[in-house]
Amino acid sequence: NNIEKGEVTWQSPSNIALVKYWGKKENQIPANPSVSFTLNNCKTTTKLEFQKKSGKSESFDFELYFEGKKKEDFKPKIQQFFERIETYCPFLKEYSFKIYTENSFPHSSGIASSASGMSALALCVMSLEKELEAIQTNNEEYFYKKASFLARLGSGSACRSLEGELIEWGEHKDIPGSSDLFGIKYPFEVNEVFKSFQDTILLVDKGQKQVSSSVGHNLMHGHPFAENRFAQAHSNLDKLKEVFASGNLEKFISIVESEALTLHAMMMSSNPYFILMKPNTLQIINKIWEFREATETPICFTLDAGANVHVLYPEANKTKVLEFIKNELVAYCEKGQYICDVVGKGAEKV
Ligand code: PMV
Repeated sequence: NNIEKGEVTWQSPSNIALVKYWGKKENQIPANPSVSFTLNNCKTTTKLEFQKKSGKSESFDFELYFEGKKKEDFKPKIQQFFERIETYCPFLKEYSFKIYTENSFPHSSGIASSASGMSALALCVMSLEKELEAIQTNNEEYFYKKASFLARLGSGSACRSLEGELIEWGEHKDIPGSSDLFGIKYPFEVNEVFKSFQDTILLVDKGQKQVSSSVGHNLMHGHPFAENRFAQAHSNLDKLKEVFASGNLEKFISIVESEALTLHAMMMSSNPYFILMKPNTLQIINKIWEFREATETPICFTLDAGANVHVLYPEANKTKVLEFIKNELVAYCEKGQYICDVVGKGAEKV
């Protein structure tokens, strides 16, 4: 391979888990399978510029620019990513890189950019591999599988951000093709209602995360409820099969909300313990429940490892729900901020 220099750009979305990944083993292997909606509007755009080095070098050479400015504090995460993927991408030390990255969502909104950021970078690395003709066949399946595999090594949930609309990650006995190593497109029937599901993200607390997700995953080691929780995730994936096919929103809501609360219950019952919800998170949850009961609108919430609330609902209910959000929920958001997103189709090369 004698490509001297070049560049490649990928745009990759965030995702929101319905069955949560929480707890991992060595090498970013998930303790339980998870499934997520790929999002559409919350995304990271990453340009990778590469230039062949003159001599052989034993280090990874890269500069990182975030929203146009050189960023030193993200470098350790990228350095770690390169170290983890080097065995699978041995050409990395032959090049020096400039990585330009930006997010479509506001900086420090409390929205994790690791899924969109790591998947975008993994795709850039795969495009370089492809150019180097290290990939003999022009096999799209191989490309996405390996990109997801690499993204997982950057940040577990990132392996679910490459394609749409529903992605499953982690071995499950009744899901053919499922793997701990990469995400796959959900292989069963998915009702149309889920293909345009809405996710309005209420920014309750835009501050730095109180617990990083790597610390959080580690709290599941020796956690008194860990084994039951992992078994529950398998069983919730089983239950979702029928729900995804039928579009039974009542069952969907009960599984998704229970998953969110269980994730937080795991953190509250670990050692050390954490409460990641804020008072406004609970206010919003109660308002959602009141609204659902009063109007019979199939709306529910889910949470990541933080205080922000994702409000999920079918596109058909959009007008009514957005009105409710504006009138009743925005008051609980920091500076009244929220982001409207929708289920999407995955990453795109720019
Ligand atoms: O990808 P990580 O290591 O940042 O973990 C993400 C974990 C959750 O967002 C809380 C759940 C999930 O499945 O996305």
